Amino acid sequence: MLSIQKSLRHYKLVPVVSLPSVDAALTLAELLVQCNLPVIEVTFRTPSALQAIAAINQRYPEMLVLAGTVLQETQAVHAHEAGAVGIVSPGFAPGLAAICKQRRLPFFPGVCTPSEVQMAREEGLKILKFFPAESAGGIKMINLFANVYQDVTFMPTGGISPANLAGYLSCKNILCCGGTWLCPEELMIDGKWKKIERLISEALEIIKNIN
Ligand code: 3PG
Repeated sequence: MLSIQKSLRHYKLVPVVSLPSVDAALTLAELLVQCNLPVIEVTFRTPSALQAIAAINQRYPEMLVLAGTVLQETQAVHAHEAGAVGIVSPGFAPGLAAICKQRRLPFFPGVCTPSEVQMAREEGLKILKFFPAESAGGIKMINLFANVYQDVTFMPTGGISPANLAGYLSCKNILCCGGTWLCPEELMIDGKWKKIERLISEALEIIKNIN
């Protein structure tokens, strides 16, 4: 767990992706490794998600692969078996929390209200996805959470972009930011890898400048 936390704090960025195919998964993984951003959240929003997790894990074992948009306990189990090292969900679900705890699999549930933060905290979960970040109060809410939940760190997603990335990452209780803007599904379908590379480089440049 500590090493995932350390990696997320180090890289500060999690590309959240809906992979159209296993081929696209491997092309993207290669690009991310080349860009020195060996982190990916593969969402269960496309039929190739599970195979993609397994393929990336097999070919690029150095990558930190999270499974995202996990809504069912069986998805968490299959993702773990395929090599995912953590489970991300849009919301907090007690069943998912229980199965992840049982498997000693880090779970990052989505929260956006104080009650949800406290429910997750009572399960011992201290790294939470803040979703949907921009619609749920954005940086203002994150700063309010910092005052009251001093032992919790957040991974905001939902509306993060080059325009607000630096602002989020400057908050002391933010571990890293995630989003789909880095690797949009349409660009992968169209094979526009250069454009994806530019989006990733632009974000990495922003991060370099706030360090
Ligand atoms: C997620 O699953 O974390 C969100 O869909 C990311 O939101 P975004 O599309 O606004 O980046």
